[in-house]
Amino acid sequence: MKVLVTGCYGQVGAELMGLATAYGHEAIGFDHDTLDITQQKLVMACISKEKPSVVINAAAYTAVDKAEDDKGTAKAVNATAVGYLAQACRTLDIPLAHISTDYVFDGSKECAYLESDTVSPLGVYGETKLEGEALVQSECEKHYIFRTSWVFSAHGNNFVKTMLRLGAEREELGIVADQRGKPTSAREIARVIYEVLASHKNAWGIYHLAQPNAVTWFDFAQSIFAGAKQQSLPLRVKQVNAIATADFPTPAKRPENSELDCNKLETTFDIKLQLWNVSLAEVIKDLRNERF
Ligand SMILES: NC(=O)c1ccc[n+]([C@@H]2O[C@H](COP(=O)([O-])OP(=O)(O)OC[C@H]3O[C@@H](n4cnc5c(N)ncnc54)[C@H](OP(=O)(O)O)[C@@H]3O)[C@@H](O)[C@H]2O)c1
Repeated sequence: MKVLVTGCYGQVGAELMGLATAYGHEAIGFDHDTLDITQQKLVMACISKEKPSVVINAAAYTAVDKAEDDKGTAKAVNATAVGYLAQACRTLDIPLAHISTDYVFDGSKECAYLESDTVSPLGVYGETKLEGEALVQSECEKHYIFRTSWVFSAHGNNFVKTMLRLGAEREELGIVADQRGKPTSAREIARVIYEVLASHKNAWGIYHLAQPNAVTWFDFAQSIFAGAKQQSLPLRVKQVNAIATADFPTPAKRPENSELDCNKLETTFDIKLQLWNVSLAEVIKDLRNERF
């Protein structure tokens, strides 16, 4: 299968590129410089020239806080450009796999969110991602939308790398303990997307894709430091304090609970999502020789 990946240097994009051959795919990747998805004519020209079997959109504006003051760019990338990709895919009769976020929910639900639950984003990032979802649904019938959460990998910016850097610099840290979600590795997202495509089920629609089990940022940080200790990474941190969201104000509001129920994905495609702890150990191992 020929797979066209946008945003190929991002966390998920890079893993999609890296895993493709293991699934027998030829992957052609485009980064921001080689295909700016906000350029409608370029999008159409690129997809019609490459004629892939599927387009996977891993490009996005992911700076959640910055988006609050930069709605124009966030909307252009996360919504309008996604519409361009969807229109091009429909015109050329190519399926589109798109990645979305847990931040389409407001976090007020007590238990895990289903695909059918009411969406109500708390900030600009979530709003623009939700607009992107709607455009995929209305413009391109043959689509998959994978909502994921708390993405981490050995490259790019993410919570794991921030914790390893701060943990190497400081003796005491305060980590938010009243937001819950499912950390998910970029490699697991790529693996599952390729499993879904390999199934040839064409069961188009929205799926939640996040690794069990739900934790707080505080719990996740504790696991990161435990893993770092095991791999003898440099750590100064001696005390990790549980703090409240109110003690760590950010420009964008985050959902208190963004746990995604992934039962629909697992049963439709007969997939078992790996525990995030296993992926975390792999990522920390990959980071052994890195400087933060
Ligand atoms: N990160 C998370 O915690 C998280 C959580 C839930 C869902 N998601 C979703 O998962 C998907 C992948 O996220 P990620 O963490 O892999 O993001 P990422 O590491 O920030 O990668 C996104 C990539 O998109 C590129 N990009 C930005 N604007 C573009 C444009 N106009 N044209 C082409 N490329 C552009 C970026 O390039 P530049 O850096 O050069 O601009 C970057 O390489 C996104 O849809 C995101 O919304 C992420």
